[in-house]
Amino acid sequence: MNIRIFEHEEDLNVTGAGIITSLLQTKPRAVLGLATGSSPVGIYKQLIAMVQKDLVSFAQASSFNLDEYVGLPAEHSESYRSFMNEQLFHHIDIDLDKTYIPDGNAPDLTQECEAYEQRLEDRGPVDLQILGIGHNGHIGFNEPGTELTGRTHVVALKEETRKANARFFDSIDQVPTQAITMGVGTILKAKQILLIARGEEKAEIIRQAFMGPITTECPASLLQCHPNVVVLLDRAAGRWVK
Ligand code: GLP
Repeated sequence: MNIRIFEHEEDLNVTGAGIITSLLQTKPRAVLGLATGSSPVGIYKQLIAMVQKDLVSFAQASSFNLDEYVGLPAEHSESYRSFMNEQLFHHIDIDLDKTYIPDGNAPDLTQECEAYEQRLEDRGPVDLQILGIGHNGHIGFNEPGTELTGRTHVVALKEETRKANARFFDSIDQVPTQAITMGVGTILKAKQILLIARGEEKAEIIRQAFMGPITTECPASLLQCHPNVVVLLDRAAGRWVK
């Protein structure tokens, strides 16, 4: 596990973007695993700037997102499809047809999960999976519990997760109660994982995830089993890292 702490946001963003662009330079057809949330946004901005300066191209790459809310149409402003289009895809040269996000509005959600997992098996493995971390240690939407699911599945969102995400909706009642998420097994199949966390509010969960025991009660702690994880933290989120 390679944990790096940055004094300046800009340096964290440049380093994160650099890991992604180095991959694309050596492997233009790379399969990227992408994440929503505020943590990767600065890195996405940096990538957009690099594409606009012709320093990197996503033209041959493809991407799989971690998760999507159930019940929001793709065009809803808070769907993860809208987020990715606005924060990244519409500003880079990626082929939108090769950007995969689970369909949270599919008529048969179980079948959608199976199809997503199968597509990942056919086109993967993911070369580089970007991750944020929830306040409770969730990765994707794999919520803490006594058991975790390996494959892509439908999950009931914890109240604390709905509250944390309510800031993007008019009220908490509008936050979906379910999501489709890659499973922990799906995530761990990626060749390399890049986790990003920022801010004091993530310091304690970062300590638990990377300095505590491996437990399903903190899904991110399972990343300790992966051979190639890079963690980029700002000084506040890395407060307890020795
Ligand atoms: C959401 C996403 C996660 C993300 C988490 C943290 O719940 N499903 O993939 O990591 O939020 O978000 P943020 O980066 O905004 O703290």
